[in-house]
Amino acid sequence: MSTILECKHLTKQYHQGDTTVNALQGVDVSFNKGEFVSISGPSGSGKSTLLHIIGSLEQPTDGDVILDGISLRNESRRELADIRLNRIGFVFQAYNLIPVLTAAENVEFILQLQGVDRQARRARSGELLKQVGLEGLENRRPGQLSGGQQQRVAVARALASHPAIVLADEPTANLDSKNSDELLALMSKLNQESNVTIIVATHDPKVIAHTRRHIVLTDGNIETDETRAA
Ligand SMILES: Nc1ncnc2c1ncn2[C@@H]1O[C@H](COP(=O)(O)OP(=O)(O)OP(=O)(O)O)[C@@H](O)[C@H]1O
Ligand SMILES: [Mg+2]
Repeated sequence: MSTILECKHLTKQYHQGDTTVNALQGVDVSFNKGEFVSISGPSGSGKSTLLHIIGSLEQPTDGDVILDGISLRNESRRELADIRLNRIGFVFQAYNLIPVLTAAENVEFILQLQGVDRQARRARSGELLKQVGLEGLENRRPGQLSGGQQQRVAVARALASHPAIVLADEPTANLDSKNSDELLALMSKLNQESNVTIIVATHDPKVIAHTRRHIVLTDGNIETDETRAA
């Protein structure tokens, strides 16, 4: 198995007035290509902070992230933006879809940033939306889709650029149990079919049950890191 992502002694401190919050306290962890991993732990344990740092949305106070052999620590802001665009897919709780764009346009937006031509964009978004079960709804705007459907658009969008890893922060938090089940089945299927590495921060026991590897964070430290036999 090849390593796709390494976190090397990541620390993150937030300063609020006189107080310092140690959100991450030296996290060392690696992920292999194709793994489907859940990260749980109490509220405030550092899950979102870890995903944001892996996704280079935030900088660590100390330590480094090595993604696909690239040390993020030494990259410029511009290079980091490129890495986010080309190598990482994000699926966050509040979907983050652009309300005035259709489902297809939301998926195509990233491809447009990458300079993919119009016809190829349309073809790729059509294929992805079909893959996530939204064939026929390509021209609906987010407000005309259910929460579960919107989250599936977010998954399609995350996969549009063939990323090395997909980071999902509480992707089922706003979904009822039926839609959560569907989203999970979808993510498992995509994980298996495209061998993309998926890391999900979650409080949802169903999500945890679906992933072979489960990491528990407590107070910014890895408490347990267990992989079940296949
Ligand atoms: N921008 C920020 N400024 C100051 N403190 C922050 C900031 N972001 C997070 N924190 C603090 O860092 C710690 C870790 O927060 P984080 O959001 O990573 O937790 P979490 O595990 O994702 O929690 P939850 O399960 O509630 O989403 C918390 O104590 C939080 O209050
Ligand atoms: Mg969080």
